[in-house]
Amino acid sequence: MRISYAPMEGITIYCYRNAHSKLFPEGIDRYYTPFLSVYKQHAIKKRDMREIAPENNQGMEGRLIPQIMTNKADEIIWALSEMHQRGFEEINLNMGCPVGTVVSKHKGSGMLEDPAYLDELFAEVFESEEIKHTALSIKTRIGLKAPKEYLELLPVFNKYPFCNVIVHPRVRTQMYQGEPDMEIFRWAYENSKNPISYNGNIFSKDDYDRIVSEFSNLKEVMIGRGLVANPGLAREIATGKSMSGDELKGFIEALETEYKIEIPADESIMHKMKEIWFYVGGNFKTTDGSEIGPYIHKIRVSKNPADYRNAVRNLYRSCGM
Ligand SMILES: Cc1cc2nc3c(=O)[nH]c(=O)nc-3n(C[C@H](O)[C@H](O)[C@H](O)COP(=O)(O)O)c2cc1C
Repeated sequence: MRISYAPMEGITIYCYRNAHSKLFPEGIDRYYTPFLSVYKQHAIKKRDMREIAPENNQGMEGRLIPQIMTNKADEIIWALSEMHQRGFEEINLNMGCPVGTVVSKHKGSGMLEDPAYLDELFAEVFESEEIKHTALSIKTRIGLKAPKEYLELLPVFNKYPFCNVIVHPRVRTQMYQGEPDMEIFRWAYENSKNPISYNGNIFSKDDYDRIVSEFSNLKEVMIGRGLVANPGLAREIATGKSMSGDELKGFIEALETEYKIEIPADESIMHKMKEIWFYVGGNFKTTDGSEIGPYIHKIRVSKNPADYRNAVRNLYRSCGM
């Protein structure tokens, strides 16, 4: 089964993906970029373009899927053409983002409120010349407010040959909380005419094994927060070898070095690293069995890079590193 690293805005930027693929080369079949917004005048921001520039993605050929955010057919068609020229064979459309400012513009999961509009939009996209050379996949939630909305969305998706329908079985109002709705997911799995993939709450090899034993024909299993917390999770799934504390420390150091390529200010790197610590912190174990929480808290509240480095050193020391 294919395993992919989920797009995570602000986290899985190219620096992160490079550090990850160097230190944990086994297990991940593809990485998705965080969403790249397509603008009216058929343009993508320079910063977003750096996400897909070949020099920033060496060794990623065929494994990197640009994800776009737009709700207009002409913008999707433009992106198909633009990404084709840049050597990509597939793009992914974000239909899941729950953030208020996105949903209010009827983008991300905001697109799910109107299946008739989606039908018109995809009819136009799939009539285009551009879709003949670049495949389109979607990453979707099961609805805005209620899981039963998917009963009207799937028939629309089934009308068009998406190369992959990645389903995160939560509704928008859940954000990333609460349990994924496995009943609706099963219905989607059994009734999708397109290849279907699962995303949500895979935090361990056991979680992964459970999903693939229940749904053996998935195209792909996509993992987000579970991989940020444990960057070695896909390798563990693929080879059985779990990540050691020293490997995690090495990854954090490599990540900081990679961030320096894109982010000049130490202070900004510190903010990025603090976000990473939110996820990875729990994977460190103190040698005297005391709680790791207070050490992570110190890192998260550090006010400047010197404070930050001190707090990180203290955590490592408490773990005998
Ligand atoms: C901080 C953060 C940023 C995210 N950014 C994106 C994004 O750019 N595009 C997207 O489709 N999903 C995004 N997601 C959603 C994840 O890709 C994924 O669907 C979600 O985390 C659930 O999967 P998980 O339980 O494996 O983490 C984001 C989630 C988080 C927590």
